[in-house]
Amino acid sequence: MKVPSQKIFPEGPEFSRIILGGWRWNDRSFPISEQEKLIDTALELGITSFDHADIYGNYNCQYLFGKVLKNNQALRDKIEIITKCDIKPISGKFPERLLVHYDTSKEHIIESAEESLRALNVDYVDTLLIHRPDPLMDADIVAEAFTQLKDQGKVKYFGVSNFSNAQFSLLQSRLGFPLVTNQLEISMSFTDLIFDGTLDYMQEKRVGIMAWSPFGGGKIFNDKGMITQLNTFAKRYSVSVSAIIIAWLLRHPGNIFPVVGTMKTDRLREIAKASEIAIELQDWFMLLKIARGYDVP
Ligand SMILES: NC(=O)c1ccc[n+]([C@@H]2O[C@H](COP(=O)([O-])OP(=O)(O)OC[C@H]3O[C@@H](n4cnc5c(N)ncnc54)[C@H](OP(=O)(O)O)[C@@H]3O)[C@@H](O)[C@H]2O)c1
Repeated sequence: MKVPSQKIFPEGPEFSRIILGGWRWNDRSFPISEQEKLIDTALELGITSFDHADIYGNYNCQYLFGKVLKNNQALRDKIEIITKCDIKPISGKFPERLLVHYDTSKEHIIESAEESLRALNVDYVDTLLIHRPDPLMDADIVAEAFTQLKDQGKVKYFGVSNFSNAQFSLLQSRLGFPLVTNQLEISMSFTDLIFDGTLDYMQEKRVGIMAWSPFGGGKIFNDKGMITQLNTFAKRYSVSVSAIIIAWLLRHPGNIFPVVGTMKTDRLREIAKASEIAIELQDWFMLLKIARGYDVP
């Protein structure tokens, strides 16, 4: 069974329920043939959505992905691309930067989006996100930038990442079209947003979530105690521990799309099996207990 695709917002784009992240694609030992293999495997598994950001790999990851797209022109129509802007990290490419900061000016948003199109070798991206909330964000200005990119057909849909409900609501209030997602850290290693009202607010607005670092960036696999407990579930559901961790997120009614970061095809195959199982009610709470160390009250 393939990983299904689903709308992330009622009038929004359709993404595969498991998304492949591009953050770690700057590894020099990850030649283009390996990248092609990973993308082919993803497509074979039904994973058609790919998450990027301008800054990943010191601005290199989108270029790596773009090379694959250049070699295979037919690929663009089979996939969905998400990218992000607004973080300005310290980088040898930008010696004028004194510290990491954010930039949600109209000029920077448009410049970054256009650079993403060039890097990725595409005419449009499916969704552009503001990567991190900017304390200096002027929502009217962001709305101007988004509207221009939409009118020019360079970006189909827009969203945000790491936004609080108030920040989401502010930006939405200035836009003539809906924000379709909020990409957030949610995992068995970080459950806070399940309980602080964030997922409830997004569910109220019918805005699907992209969950980044669903394995805590790999940390989860170092927790021997947790892995031992998860193994019993893996055996019972006849899948791997990684599939259990992802299936636990998929079981949430908040329309969560985990964004996984593995660069290994065999691991991606194991992860994809998450969409073949449904975690039973009490098991979901047992997994929550394993994640947090205590029962719900
Ligand atoms: N919006 C944001 O602020 C934000 C922040 C961070 C990340 N992201 C997005 O989220 C994506 C995923 O983040 P992430 O890479 O931290 O996610 P992750 O899927 O939680 O972690 C992936 C890491 O775990 C390792 N790993 C070890 N054992 C594994 C196993 N059995 N199964 C799967 N992975 C295993 C992987 O190594 P191998 O490659 O060796 O498998 C990889 O280094 C990023 O690529 C990016 O697109 C967004």
